[in-house]
Amino acid sequence: MEEPVRAMRDSRGEITTFVMPHMQNVLGDLFGGDLMALVDQAAAVAAMRHAGGPAVTKSIDRLDFHQAIPVGALVSCCATVDYVGNSSMDITVEVYSEHIATGVRRHTHTAHVVFVAIDRDRTPRRVPRLRPETDEERRRFEAARPRSEARRAR
Ligand SMILES: CC(C)(COP(=O)(O)OP(=O)(O)OC[C@H]1O[C@@H](n2cnc3c(N)ncnc32)[C@H](O)[C@@H]1OP(=O)(O)O)[C@@H](O)C(=O)NCCC(=O)NCCS
Repeated sequence: MEEPVRAMRDSRGEITTFVMPHMQNVLGDLFGGDLMALVDQAAAVAAMRHAGGPAVTKSIDRLDFHQAIPVGALVSCCATVDYVGNSSMDITVEVYSEHIATGVRRHTHTAHVVFVAIDRDRTPRRVPRLRPETDEERRRFEAARPRSEARRAR
């Protein structure tokens, strides 16, 4: 029987919220732990869309903080499923901040996370194959492949 395949563009996840005062660190910027929670949520949306059911965070491979995001700004986390194994999904989350009054948008963080699809017994479940369709999607797919292989080797 043919395996289910899902287009990459159908498994995006996006979370957008204001940076509220209770999310700030002592410098008045978004606290790193709150940022990680938003990254995890956006990745969960992408993972569960691709898996068509529950998926859990297995690892956070990398989270680079390029720039701080001040209280009052909008923060958007955009997640894409870039590569899949059997039950695992390699997901990239790009984070952007936007100053509403000026419209200035900046790329502030990049994260690479791995989710695993699970069944009712919480055991890993095979996910649909991934179909990149655009040049950009093929670039992301090829960039994620060595990350996934290096992780498996580890
Ligand atoms: C996710 C979980 C069910 C996987 O169980 P497991 O016994 O590790 O399963 P497996 O060894 O069969 O590995 C499953 C997949 O995870 C991958 N994996 C295992 N360890 C990994 C690691 N450290 N980093 C990234 N991927 C990993 C495996 O390569 C495998 O991928 P594949 O199916 O695509 O080949 C289990 O580890 C778990 O429940 N973890 C807790 C998750 C959680 O609570 N997250 C936070 C809340 S959402």
